[in-house]
Amino acid sequence: MIEFKHVTKTYARTHTHALRNVDFAIGKGEFVYITGHSGAGKSTLLALVLRRTVPTEGVVSIAGQDLSRLRDGQLPLLRRRIGMVFQDHRLLPKLSAADNLTFALRATGAHGQLEQKALNALRLVGLAHKRKAFPIELSLGEQQRVAIARALVTNPPLLLCDEPTGNLDPDTSWEILELLNDVNIKGTTVVIATHSRDLVDAMKHRTLVLRNGELVRDDDRGGYSL
Ligand SMILES: Nc1ncnc2c1ncn2[C@@H]1O[C@H](COP(=O)(O)OP(=O)(O)OP(=O)(O)O)[C@@H](O)[C@H]1O
Ligand SMILES: [Mg+2]
Repeated sequence: MIEFKHVTKTYARTHTHALRNVDFAIGKGEFVYITGHSGAGKSTLLALVLRRTVPTEGVVSIAGQDLSRLRDGQLPLLRRRIGMVFQDHRLLPKLSAADNLTFALRATGAHGQLEQKALNALRLVGLAHKRKAFPIELSLGEQQRVAIARALVTNPPLLLCDEPTGNLDPDTSWEILELLNDVNIKGTTVVIATHSRDLVDAMKHRTLVLRNGELVRDDDRGGYSL
């Protein structure tokens, strides 16, 4: 599903080596944490998967396709196949929960039964009854669940999350983690970047550890240890 071959990412302007010779593969259906201290390179790794940025050296492939060979016109298709959840969920404040989802669907070029697809995705995260609520009318945990629904509404085979529980209390974080686990059990590959020990220890899954841009550990049923 995801393959990194000797991937180095250097941000030229600041001479920052964000990733150094990183090598790993994530198979279809896996649930993987990417951990490491702040600045270790986690978000950079996700940005490479989404092709928001390109490696300085090495190859990033998704489903066998070398991303550096993708033409700009092929990027929307790639991004339709990858759901992304951010820590600061970035819901559109003037749109209801359901409209945030139909907006995302339209942005990926989907058409037909948008309302039904939005409702199905909200149902998946247990928030169909809040479909008409605006983000400000939802709790932080509910907002994050809407953000997850938005990432899933195009039915992507791969879900990336960057600190998905960053602003949430422990109980709500646990709910989000269970939700992501359910999504994974139904077949979606899930990759979570986090520096939260609580999250990684709460539910054991394969764990990759980055330190100063280097991949220093890759454990099957990790637990947090940097
Ligand atoms: N656009 C950029 N330009 C220059 N340097 C960057 C850029 N983005 C990130 N960096 C640097 O690259 C390194 C890795 O950053 P990255 O955001 O990948 O870390 P992270 O592990 O996600 O950290 P955090 O846990 O704080 O989110 C850091 O030193 C950061 O300052
Ligand atoms: Mg980050």
